[in-house]
Amino acid sequence: MTAVATIAQILTNAARALRGCSDSPRLDAELLLGKVLGLSRSSLVAHDARPLDAGDERVYAELLHQRVRGVPIAYLTGEREFWSLPLIVTPAVLVPRPETESLVQHALQVMPENVPICVLDLGTGSGAIALSLASERSLWNITAVDLSPQALEVAAQNSAALKLPRVKWRLGNWFDAVPSERFHLIVSNPPYIADEDQALASLAAEPVMALTAGRSGLDALSAIIAQAPRHLHAGGWLVLEHGATQAPAVTDLLAQYGFASVSTFSDFSGKPRVTLGTHTQH
Ligand SMILES: C[S@@+](CC[C@H](N)C(=O)[O-])C[C@H]1O[C@@H](n2cnc3c(N)ncnc32)[C@H](O)[C@@H]1O
Repeated sequence: MTAVATIAQILTNAARALRGCSDSPRLDAELLLGKVLGLSRSSLVAHDARPLDAGDERVYAELLHQRVRGVPIAYLTGEREFWSLPLIVTPAVLVPRPETESLVQHALQVMPENVPICVLDLGTGSGAIALSLASERSLWNITAVDLSPQALEVAAQNSAALKLPRVKWRLGNWFDAVPSERFHLIVSNPPYIADEDQALASLAAEPVMALTAGRSGLDALSAIIAQAPRHLHAGGWLVLEHGATQAPAVTDLLAQYGFASVSTFSDFSGKPRVTLGTHTQH
């Protein structure tokens, strides 16, 4: 008769197997087992002498196999926390990154708090930015756009699950989805990786349309900056996330299209990631 493995033994072995492919092997092992057993991480520890039944062990082995092959943990668990909101995440959307919380922070800071303004989130994906803003500002009238119908489905599911139904979801190519509308604030974390960038190899599980933007990586940022003045009220703000080396190019583009008070801010790990500017004239 073969010995039945306990939760403690399974976790030790899994963390060892994940060592080469994850920065947080033990955490990943616990999150995946928690998903299979429907238990929190603290419950796993509290019950770590419990034996695993064969069915659960098989399901867990399959999830581990996918993680070893590079599938992001968020796609395997189906969720990711962003701005303290538990978001549903599927392979149709970019896994929201902690650095994007810095964009949310600057967007909140740049506008007055208790004024009912119109806000646009371009390339909303899971809805991470739009829903974070909606959770903080009940008076804001927020519209969010994506070119991917599958991404908008995930965003709408998040909107319902989080009981933040005020965001309007629009399908389309950047401003084509809101052709004659103007906003007080436009935010975007668009694709900004160059088509041939070697970093793409480690991002193969995520949708390519969420990642790449032409030879220089600046195609989406350029298109948004060029069209934004026609969609901003006088004195409105554009707040953009970009790659860590792209701040000078984004600053130049903003100046070229008439933006003032242009500044760049670093994310929580010190990389220049968010650039914003205001448009004062039409
Ligand atoms: C980097 S992801 C950002 C997702 C989300 N805002 C976040 O921060 O996690 C970029 C998003 O832009 C969308 N996108 C790409 N090209 C687009 C276009 N031409 N028009 C509208 N959305 C586009 C992608 O589908 C993707 O959801």
